[in-house]
Amino acid sequence: MKDFEQPPDDTNRGDWRTVARLLRLIVPHRRLLLGSIGVLILLSGLTLTAPWAFALAVDSMAKGNAAGLVRYVTLFGVLAAFRVAAEFLRLQVTVLTGQRVIADVRARLFRHIHALPVRFFDKTPVGTLVTRVTNDVEALAEMFSSGIAAIFHDLLILVLLVPVLFWLNPTMALVSLAALPAVVGISLGFGRRMRLAYRETRARLSSLNGFQQEAFTGIPVTRLFRREPLMVERFDRRNLAFRDANFKAIFNFALFWPIVDSVATLALAAVLVLGANEATGGTLTHRELTYFWIALQMFFHPIREMSDRFNVLLAALAAGERVFTILDEVPETPDAPGALAPARLKGEVEFKDVHFSYLDGEPVLRGISFKVRKGETVAIVGPTGAGKTSILALLSRLWDPQQGAVLVDGEDVRSYARHALRSRIAVVMQDVFLFAGTVEDNLRLGNASLAREDLERACATVHADFLGKLDGGFSADIRERGGNLSVGQKQLLAFARALASDPDILVLDEATSSIDTETESLIQDALPKLLLGRTAIVVAHRLSTVREADRILCLHHGRLAEEGTHEELLKKGGLYARLCQLSYASLNGRGRI
Ligand SMILES: Nc1ncnc2c1ncn2[C@@H]1O[C@H](COP(=O)(O)OP(=O)(O)OP(=O)(O)O)[C@@H](O)[C@H]1O
Ligand SMILES: [Mg+2]
Repeated sequence: MKDFEQPPDDTNRGDWRTVARLLRLIVPHRRLLLGSIGVLILLSGLTLTAPWAFALAVDSMAKGNAAGLVRYVTLFGVLAAFRVAAEFLRLQVTVLTGQRVIADVRARLFRHIHALPVRFFDKTPVGTLVTRVTNDVEALAEMFSSGIAAIFHDLLILVLLVPVLFWLNPTMALVSLAALPAVVGISLGFGRRMRLAYRETRARLSSLNGFQQEAFTGIPVTRLFRREPLMVERFDRRNLAFRDANFKAIFNFALFWPIVDSVATLALAAVLVLGANEATGGTLTHRELTYFWIALQMFFHPIREMSDRFNVLLAALAAGERVFTILDEVPETPDAPGALAPARLKGEVEFKDVHFSYLDGEPVLRGISFKVRKGETVAIVGPTGAGKTSILALLSRLWDPQQGAVLVDGEDVRSYARHALRSRIAVVMQDVFLFAGTVEDNLRLGNASLAREDLERACATVHADFLGKLDGGFSADIRERGGNLSVGQKQLLAFARALASDPDILVLDEATSSIDTETESLIQDALPKLLLGRTAIVVAHRLSTVREADRILCLHHGRLAEEGTHEELLKKGGLYARLCQLSYASLNGRGRI
């Protein structure tokens, strides 16, 4: 794994596209958005009118008009109360919009990731994926919940206030407006630096999370190989890199905010001097000066806040880019229109001159051809890394070959609907994966059409009935990745779940790890029952399994070196015979090939 995930090169091209794509996420929630805009307009109106009532009250007080004072203070109170209510509504609506949009994004990401080809997961560490669906999405949430609404509110106040300021006093209005271009200029100047800093923090966070995820999963290995100091050192490197990247981002912001604030304060001071002059000259009334003062505060408030808003936007932009790179990953090619979806398969399998590589230029299978007839059991043997597991992966279409074809019942597997094909081919993988949940969840794997009796029968057939005897029976908890079951027990559970769906083709990648003699004899006994009456392709490591197969394919460096029955191949004295000789305990049938 690379030491750190590198942030993407800086190009401005994608920025506006990212902004447009982020905004498009709101489209499905346009009603709520319109609602928020309505509330914001109401709020802006109240924000602007309440001070006017206040100014009138001040004016009445200056003139000694008691009735006027009471009237305007009451009006001010009512407007202020409405404003509080509108503010409450604004928070509700904007947070609701933000959370809805983000829940959508999360759902889209999760679905999209589930539709991506297996290749994608080969190159993407799990921890970095988790970062994107949690931390990056959180950064977006902030923008949708507060950022956009706040910016809209600020802009609305600015736009509404400009004519009011001009009406009150054009010179002072012009001086106030002069601050705007300066603030925009400074923001643009800082924008690029801050965006880069945010990109870096997100990439570093992703590296850190990826590393932690791997570290926690590998703790037993770390212990056994005394890797703790090494892991701590690697963690520290990533942790400090993240801290420094964060610091860089905050440093930029810490520089940016006071500069914007000083510009705003300078402009405010200039306006005040001007205003004071005019008031003493008698060209400005009390009422006007009071309102102008409050209006100016309102005018400069959003300008001062701009750095904050900008910050949220830039962080969201960096996070958005990362979320979109995942959404832009091309999913598995969809099933062809009119794809075959037979309820049952006959169970004939054929590989026709199949060439396959995981990585360009590194062939794994080089021209594999063989046929498996209905009901036949074929064993695949060969040295480690020969390509046995890869053959199985092609059959259930986890990958597609670059050349040649894999046929099931005479049809290319690519012409089947994936779900239909996979529902009739059961696979028991080399290392069994179990989900956190109950025994029953893991046996059923979401297949609601299976009755409880089917599961019980399958368990009994493959000697996995110990599962029913666990504390809690089928409802017993299985910990993440089956941590509370032994390797042999997991294997038996995997047999049971393969058998439960009564598949037409069974694909078995025999575990190479040793299991205790008792479990092994259970598995030996279970296997023939599992294979009975269906086509089976078994990557076999146990001599006993190989012997019982109808035919043996012997694989070497991605090529089919030999094919025949156990006796035929032994007689031939080739690779298979050598493999058998090497397996030390071949005499009692428990040797491993
Ligand atoms: N996801 C992958 N990405 C890249 N290369 C891979 C991937 N999976 C396997 N390989 C490579 O493909 C070759 C064949 O692997 P495969 O898993 O099919 O071997 P195998 O015959 O099943 O070995 P074993 O008996 O050890 O299980 C190996 O050289 C391996 O390095
Ligand atoms: Mg393998």
